Amino acid sequence: MCGIVAYVGHREACPIIIKGLKRLEYRGYDSAGIALMNGTLSVYKKKGKVSELEAFLQDKDVHSNIGMGHTRWATHGEPNDVNAHPHFSTSKKIAIIHNGIIENYAALKTLLISKGHTFKSETDSEVFINLIEDIRENNHCTLAEAVRLALHEVVGAYAIVVLSKDDPHQLVAARKGSPLVLGIGKGEYFLASDATPIIEYTNDVVYLKDYELAVIKNGELDIRSREDVKQTPYVQRLEMALESIEKGGYEHFMLKEIFEQPRSILDSMRGRMISASNHLMMSGIREFENKFVNAERILIVACGTSWHAGLVAEYLIEDFARIPVEVEYASEFRYRNPIIRETDIVIAISQSGETADTLAAIELAKSKGATIFGICNVVGSSIARTTDAGAYTHAGPEIGVASTKAFTAQVTVLTLIAMIIGSKRGTLETSKLHGLMAELENIPAKVERALKLDQQIQEIAEKFKNATNFIYLGRGYNYPVALEGALKLKEISYIHAEGYPAAEMKHGPIALIDEQMPVVVIATKDGSYEKIVSNIQEVRARKGKVIAIVTEGDTTIPAMSDFVIEIPETSEHLAPLLSVIPLQLLSYHIAVLRGCNVDQPRNLAKSVTVE
Ligand code: AGP
Ligand code: GLU
Repeated sequence: MCGIVAYVGHREACPIIIKGLKRLEYRGYDSAGIALMNGTLSVYKKKGKVSELEAFLQDKDVHSNIGMGHTRWATHGEPNDVNAHPHFSTSKKIAIIHNGIIENYAALKTLLISKGHTFKSETDSEVFINLIEDIRENNHCTLAEAVRLALHEVVGAYAIVVLSKDDPHQLVAARKGSPLVLGIGKGEYFLASDATPIIEYTNDVVYLKDYELAVIKNGELDIRSREDVKQTPYVQRLEMALESIEKGGYEHFMLKEIFEQPRSILDSMRGRMISASNHLMMSGIREFENKFVNAERILIVACGTSWHAGLVAEYLIEDFARIPVEVEYASEFRYRNPIIRETDIVIAISQSGETADTLAAIELAKSKGATIFGICNVVGSSIARTTDAGAYTHAGPEIGVASTKAFTAQVTVLTLIAMIIGSKRGTLETSKLHGLMAELENIPAKVERALKLDQQIQEIAEKFKNATNFIYLGRGYNYPVALEGALKLKEISYIHAEGYPAAEMKHGPIALIDEQMPVVVIATKDGSYEKIVSNIQEVRARKGKVIAIVTEGDTTIPAMSDFVIEIPETSEHLAPLLSVIPLQLLSYHIAVLRGCNVDQPRNLAKSVTVE
């Protein structure tokens, strides 16, 4: 799931590419490389971050008006200088940058070796460029034609850009499964995995479609299908502010994104709900309203944090709309021969809109005739484009690998959906609906208040920064929040953590509790309050250290806890939007105190475009 950037035009290509790669580092950061045309085709690459490549380039001649760069998240071959992209073909006449996986690379490699091609790296990407070279030599065709023919031979996912020494004013790009955006400036063109490297220079972009080939030659753009049919590009104008993708004074993107939540939650409701006028509407649903209202079942597919948002939605939809809901890990769903009916609605949730397993789960459900509704954050992403209908979360770009504002935006959108279906089906009383709408409107201000706990949470983090294990407990709507809190801590601090429904603790995890074990209990005032009080007692009896998240003004639980974090009162249906905030901050501060790389934790990447 690497990041790729390419440029051709009148400017110096190298600084544009390096800056763009830095913006795309969230996609992968184990090595970086660049290819430039400066008399010859030069490739420079280095293990490590883009800044290391940048330092390596200091004494090199990097003058060029055409080039391409890559920041890698390895799938085939360990992260090192040799496996870093770009990769040359055997003759070194052409080079490739590739994002994705070529599934039939082994068979192709054997064939190409038998034809005399040689390989330096362990990557599937080097097979791709040699295949292109082989086709070009055998067919005596243009580079673009060779790339087009190669697309018929490779199986898997790719976004590629190819440069050729013999065609010094040409970029050839193609995609299938991995994202690729083309920026169109005045006499210049940009290619990138997302629009962030491009928007500084132009707002006019084209999202390439699967199996499309873009050839930029001597300042002219030509887009063709894999079958060589000329395509008319659909040029979109992107209104994305550059400052929205920078850190805005915060030390880390994750902290900035945590603090953005009052706004991102509001943006997720904007235009969809105004409680004073009882306005509740979502354009994505309107078209499929009957399907939603008559659905016999709703299936939710997602991964990671998005799956946790799906669990919250299960409680909301079943409660408000009385439609059975099943929440599935996309990776399990796609391989387990699930029962999918034409009357089912499948909701796919994904921040990036690029998660490979979620995409595959959608394809499976589609093939069985279900209606697919997507909830994505990235506009124009693959999932957003494959679904029948959908709603964007509008949380703004999320750069920190640990998802924060995307979760609360997803829960907000899912709450609106549950309210809409519930009210259309007549299963949600009007008075209750209006109360919920008014309270949902209060949530951004309450999140703002919860964020004021930052300093207090930092002090608690200091106490537990050396813990080796954590348990998170919650019941009802706060059970998915317990899972999410544990995931956040694991991801960025590398402390082992488990989330459980509080009552389930007795069936095993309780054996882990001793005086060393911090137990975070989400115990806000709701229907299961008395029950969770008992669970806290069970932890106390085993000398566990209780960190309780409680509703402001509670006196019972503070009396039995080691540390207390008070959050504003709200309806239990909306509790996750508030109770997750201290857990995000706790994991953030523990990770910072442990000296971890918060925004780019080890072994992880922002969008998981491989299965
Ligand atoms: C969240 O903190 C994780 N980095 C991860 O679990 C993430 O939520 C998951 O990979 C799904 O991503 P998506 O929402 O972009 O599909
Ligand atoms: N498969 C390529 C490699 O390992 C690209 C990786 C990716 O895009 O995830 O280098």
